[in-house]
Parts: sequence; structure tokens; C-alpha cells
Amino acid sequence: MAKHCLSLADLKKEDILNLIELAGIIKAKIKNGEDYKPLRGTILGMIFEKSSTRTRLSFEAGMKRLGGDAVFLSNRDIQLGRGETIEDTARVVSRYVDIIMIRTYEHARLELFAKYSTVPVINALTDLLHPCQVLSDLFTIKERLGSLNNIKIAYVGDGNNMANSWLLAAAVLGLNLSVATPKDCSVNGSVLSEAVKLSKESKAHITITDNPVEAVKGAKVIYTDVWASMGEESQKEKKHALLRPYQVNRELVKYADKDFIFMHCLPAHRGEEVEAEIIDSEHSVVWDEAENRTYAQLAVILKLMGRDK
Ligand code: CP
Ligand code: NVA
Repeated sequence: MAKHCLSLADLKKEDILNLIELAGIIKAKIKNGEDYKPLRGTILGMIFEKSSTRTRLSFEAGMKRLGGDAVFLSNRDIQLGRGETIEDTARVVSRYVDIIMIRTYEHARLELFAKYSTVPVINALTDLLHPCQVLSDLFTIKERLGSLNNIKIAYVGDGNNMANSWLLAAAVLGLNLSVATPKDCSVNGSVLSEAVKLSKESKAHITITDNPVEAVKGAKVIYTDVWASMGEESQKEKKHALLRPYQVNRELVKYADKDFIFMHCLPAHRGEEVEAEIIDSEHSVVWDEAENRTYAQLAVILKLMGRDK
């Protein structure tokens, strides 16, 4: 595996499948109450330039469960928020901790941080990508449906960091993914080109449409996310108007497989991107997705630290 975990496109199909398998092993060990402490003596630095509930908790609690520790660093408290450069922050933080996760805005900022860090860096969300979430989602699908193959996955809504990450996951793994976004909220062009390139080898079946019904038709998985992501607060009204026809509601899910599962990275806004009747229904697996963040991320940490043996 690569030194850092910044994008799913940096991973091979085998790497992702191994991470999913390892996540399952870690989950079983934790659930069985085994004395499993492969991260004893390991400290994770956690830099947040945006808010978080799940990412912070899953990384921090996960480290502690496997015998390690974590240090939470909000940009409101550290010198990064007062103008210390990202390069200097990376050089310094990596002198104190063994591995770092960072949540930030521009993807280039994460890449710059990783360039100057002397320890492994994990992308905990940028404006462009959220790979840890999709790893957890893939693990959740595997758990629920038994396989990632021969199922149609539909992403409906904003062409944001989640949609981009799904494109790369599908492209690397050779999945069947249909993405429906309004034309003015489309996925990132460079990510799409990369996904198309990767799909040639993996034989992924990727469809991009502006028609939510077309995307959802026959889908076993329906995925959506917020209409205005962190940092897009000023565009909220405009995006809501464009995305209203893309709500996952009782009308839309009629087109899906009758046993479809509903997924959402959370936080959710009931009545906006999803109707309460869907996210709170028996089709919804959103709480499993949130829990599985812990195991998927621990799998990434163990691999990056060479502690997976
Ligand atoms: N899904 C997710 O990353 O949630 P948080 O923003 O709460 O970390
Ligand atoms: N697209 C959302 C995901 C939050 C986990 C955002 O970036 O705010």
C-alpha cells in the first residue's frame, strides 16, 4: 500500500479488498472483547479544520480500543489557525506523533501536508474526497449484502466529495455505479476522468446522469448526502433549489430493488436530501455505516503502520 491514504485512486483493488477484510477481523475482535492491542504505544494526531462528530469519535475511540492514543488538534486552538503554514505544521506535528489524520478544505492542502509529513497521513475529508467514509460504506455493503459484485449502486444528489469518492471506489473495484446529479452540481471533472481511465482495467460500469429515476432503477443501494457541504454555506439556497428534485423519498425508491438499502454518510437533513420515512425505515443502514468507520479506519492505520500481521 502507498505511504499515505489520501485517495482511493492510490489503492489497488487488492488493497481495498484487504482493508475490508481486515475491518471485519478488527470488528469481530473488538465485539468479542479480545485483548487485541496492536496499536500500543502509537499516537495519532487528528487535525480538524472543519467540524466533525463521527470522524473524530471513530478515530479517537478506535485508537484507544486497540491500545493506542490520539491527540485532537482543532485549527481554532493550534497555530495553523493563526497563519502557521501547512508545511511547517506537517513538519512539526510529525515529530510528535506516529500517524496523522487531517480534515481540511482544498485537496491540494492535504497533499502539501502529506508531502512535508515524515509519518503516514490519512485523508479525513477534503472538499474533493472522503475515502475513509467510502471504505466504511463498502464494508457495510459487504456485511449487509454479502458481496459488492452484481449489485447496482445509485448515488443521488450533489456531485460532492462523497460522489467523487464513490466514483473512484467503483472505478478501482469494478463496481456498477450510477450517479445522478443536476448538471450544475456535477462531480469533479478530473476525478471523473481518472475514474473513466481506471474503469478500463477494472471493467467498472459507471453511468452519469441528471435523471434520479434512471440512477435508482433496479438499484440495491441508494446513497445520498447533504445538499450543501461544509464550506458551501453561502451557496445553500441556490443548491437547495437545484437539488430539490433529487430528494430520496418514497416516490423515488419505488424504482429501486424492493430490498434496497439506504445509505448516507451523515449528518443528515430530514426533509431535504432524504425523507424521514426513508432514513428511519428498515431499509436504512446509516447507523452501521457510522459504527463501521471505526473498523475501516483502524484497518487503514494498521496497514499504514505495518501492524496488520
Ligand atoms: N460522515 C462524517 O464524516 O461525519 P462527521 O462530519 O461527523 O465526521
Ligand atoms: N459532503 C459532506 C460530507 C460530510 C461528512 C461535507 O463535506 O460536508
